[in-house]
Amino acid sequence: MIRSAEIFSSQEHRDMEAIVARYDSPASAILPLFHYIQKIQGYLSEDALTFVAEFVGVPHVRAFEVATYYTMLFTDPPGRHLIQLCRNLSCHVNGAEDILEKLKEELGIQVGGTSGDGLFTLVEVECIGACDLAPAVMVDGDLHGRVSADAVRGILDSYRGKA
Ligand code: FES
Repeated sequence: MIRSAEIFSSQEHRDMEAIVARYDSPASAILPLFHYIQKIQGYLSEDALTFVAEFVGVPHVRAFEVATYYTMLFTDPPGRHLIQLCRNLSCHVNGAEDILEKLKEELGIQVGGTSGDGLFTLVEVECIGACDLAPAVMVDGDLHGRVSADAVRGILDSYRGKA
């Protein structure tokens, strides 16, 4: 059993109680709790998963399934910069696959992985609302539109010097 005080402050615990109180069933709060924890801790540690499962009364395997189903939830610490490559139709037909291959080659990782220097985590996402700029890539909060495979290295380099 994971005691809340081992991984959360008392204020954070109160925040999570408030999140659960918004729902008729505590189990319905699992995703909002994960978002909250990821926001304050950067990712969902094994202890955090165990805590949430006990907190809302679901089996640990259920918490694990939810945490690993969504690409925007991390069960390992992500890199400093998050690369979201759109894989939806407009981007797909406009070359997203080429961008993906270039990103994987440049970073030496697969989708869901983090580069060895800890700088970049690569995920695929559904439409990011920039179909008119397809293929589109989001890095942190920055939108990069009409990206070509040749532009990938320059985009990565522009983040390599950033904190
Ligand atoms: S399909 Fe890629 S941004 Fe909409």
